[in-house]
Order: sequence, then structure tokens, then C-alpha cells
Amino acid sequence: MIDMREDETRAAADGPIALAIIIPVFQESANIAELAARLAAVLEGVAWEAIFVDDNSPDGTADAARALARTDRRIRVIERVGRRGLASAVIEGMLATAAPLVAVIDGDLQHDEALLPRMLAAMEADPALDLAIGSRFVAGGSDAGLSDKRAAQSRLATRLSRGAIGADLKDPMSGFFMARIETIREVLPRLSAIGFKILLDIFTSARRPLKFVELPYAFRSRGAGASKLDRAIAFEYLVMLYDKAFGRIVPARFALFSAIGALGVAVHFAFLTAMFQGANTSFAAAQAVATLGAMTFNFALNNSLTYRDRQLRGPKQLLKGWLSFCVVCSVGALANVGVATWLFETRHALWTLSALAGIAVGAVWNFALSSRFTWSR
Ligand code: GDD
Ligand code: MN
Repeated sequence: MIDMREDETRAAADGPIALAIIIPVFQESANIAELAARLAAVLEGVAWEAIFVDDNSPDGTADAARALARTDRRIRVIERVGRRGLASAVIEGMLATAAPLVAVIDGDLQHDEALLPRMLAAMEADPALDLAIGSRFVAGGSDAGLSDKRAAQSRLATRLSRGAIGADLKDPMSGFFMARIETIREVLPRLSAIGFKILLDIFTSARRPLKFVELPYAFRSRGAGASKLDRAIAFEYLVMLYDKAFGRIVPARFALFSAIGALGVAVHFAFLTAMFQGANTSFAAAQAVATLGAMTFNFALNNSLTYRDRQLRGPKQLLKGWLSFCVVCSVGALANVGVATWLFETRHALWTLSALAGIAVGAVWNFALSSRFTWSR
């Protein structure tokens, strides 16, 4: 006799795909198999797929995921080359599935996968619900897995985000949630895709209040591997907040590029002071060294901050990038001088305004051309 219950279960698991679990991974080779096994256990009876999105980790993370995918068709792998970033990895994973529901979970076993069936039940029970969010800060949840320092930083980040969200979200920093794919597609054109905080990005990109529930879970401490949240990621968080507030007026990348350019001027003067004033080098020589020094400084800072997601690495890439940046900036300087001189001499503009206009033209030139040639995708 056929066991009806078992038959129904199989029908659900074999039916059209219901849920895609998106797992951003970087250097998580030791955690992949365990996570996949746990997902299979908690999602029994559900038609699911898991998409590991790896950014070409040197530790063989993608290989570990592909090893599973070879025999388990529910496992998929996206490997990105030449790009880094948690939020953008998650978005690419979401866009790669045909499932109506997508969940995001970390690949390091810190999120409690047992919450997934409850998120799924909540989403199925209420078709108007946009998101079911794993929360450390509603009754029953905890962030015990975080060090005191990380917990304090997380609280600060949450406070900074308050004004931007416009919803009473207890854990906006959560990286563990389930969403309807239509909701994702709705906000997609406005996502910043910068840094770590994809949930916050979704909320601040929405043009209507999103309907959500927060379900408690205990954030575990990390087993294998190390967190990728470092100072640069914290900085990227501020860039994302900036992008949400002013990004439509002055794009975040351009603002950052310009701010670094202004710092470059300070570096230029530091060189000049040391060489021309201090070591009485000829002005021309000091100016030449100062120019190179400032360009190199700008190149390094833009490479590690402005273009962190496309960061050039290794001596060959760095040398090529630095050379192209110097060429771009040299032409930018010519454009700067040309425009300023033209305004001042033929249009009789104020010398200050002429100079500022020259600087603006040079900055836009440098930004546009270096993003195309130095940090091309
Ligand atoms: N593809 C890709 N690219 N994955 C990444 C990258 C990246 O650049 N950076 C990190 N990841 C992956 C990690 O491998 C891990 O699976 C997950 O993203 C989270 O990164 P962690 O480095 O473990 O972050 P965390 O533990 O400090 O913080 C996490 O938990 C917080 C609490 O829920 C993040 O998910 C936060 O967003 C979250 O708020
Ligand atoms: Mn983690």
C-alpha cells in the first residue's frame, strides 16, 4: 500500500521550485558541505535549491560547492571573477533563480537554518508579506555569537541607519531573511549593492512601506574560518548610507573619488614643502615629484576604497593600473589648465571661478576615464 503522507511529501519536493537559498561565500570551503547537509535536513519536503555565490576564493570554496553540485542537482554555484562584495553577490544569486521565494543565509553556519521552515510558513501564510527576517533583537533572539566589540559596532550601525529605514525594524543589520522575488525585482533598480548590508539596502530602496515579520534566532559564534567584516567594510557601510541620502545628486563613487582627489592636493603640498622648502630641490623637480607622489597616493586610495569591488591586486595589475591612472590624470590636468585658461583669458571670468571650473572638468575627466580604463570591469 502506498503511504499517502510520504507521497504528498515527494510531490511537494518534486513540484515547481518554491525556494532558493542564496549563500554568499568567501573563503568558506570548510563550511560548505556541513551547511548543505543542514539545509537538506531542515528543508525536507520543500522544492528548494541552494545557490552558493563565491568571489573566486583562493581556498577552493567554489570547488567544494561544485563537488556537491555534481551529485546533488539542488546545489548550484556561481563563481564571480575580478569582483568582491557581499551585497552584490547576494543580488546576483537572487537574479539567477526562477524560484518565487529567495532566502539569504551566511555560509559560515552562524545563522540558524532551523528558522528557514518558519520563514517559509510565514511567507506562505500571508501573500502580502514581503519579507520574513531572522532577528537577533526580538524576544527569543540573541547575538551571543558576537564579541562585545562587534555587538557595540552593530548597535552603532543600527543607530546610524534609523533615519534612513522608516520602519520599526529591530535588526536591520541582519543578513538572514526570506523575501518574495517580486519585491526584490521591485527595488532592484535602486539598490546600492555596496558592502555588507543587503537587507538595509532593500528597505531603503523601497518606494512603499514593506510588510515584514521578524522571527527570533540566536546568532551563533563562528566555527571554521574568519569574519570578512573589517574596517573597509565598515567604511563601505557609511558609503552606502551616503548613497541612499545623496547618491542621486552626487553619486557615491564620484564623491569619494573627489574627496580623495582633495586629499591628493594636500599630499602634493606636503611633497613640495619637504623638497622645495626643506631640501632646496629645484621647483620643477619638486613639482614633478609631488605630482607623481599625489597621483600614486590617489591611485592607492581609490584602489582600496573607491574601487574596492574591482580592486587591482598583484604587481602586474597594480603597475598597469598605476600607469593608466597616471596617463588619465595627466590628460585631466591638461584639460583642467586648458578650460581654466580659456575661461579666464577669453571669457574674462574671475580667476577663482576659472580655477574651480578647471578643477571640476579635470575631476570629471579623471573619474570617467579611470573608471573606464584603470578599473574597468
Ligand atoms: N561572495 C562573497 N563575497 N561572500 C562574502 C564576501 C564577499 O566579498 N564577504 C563575506 N562573504 C560571505 C562570508 O563568507 C559569509 O558566508 C557571509 O558572507 C557573512 O560574512 P562574515 O564575514 O561571516 O560576516 P559577519 O559574521 O561578520 O556578519 C554577518 O552576520 C551579521 C549578523 O547577521 C553578515 O551577514 C552581516 O550582514 C550580518 O549582519
Ligand atoms: Mn559570519
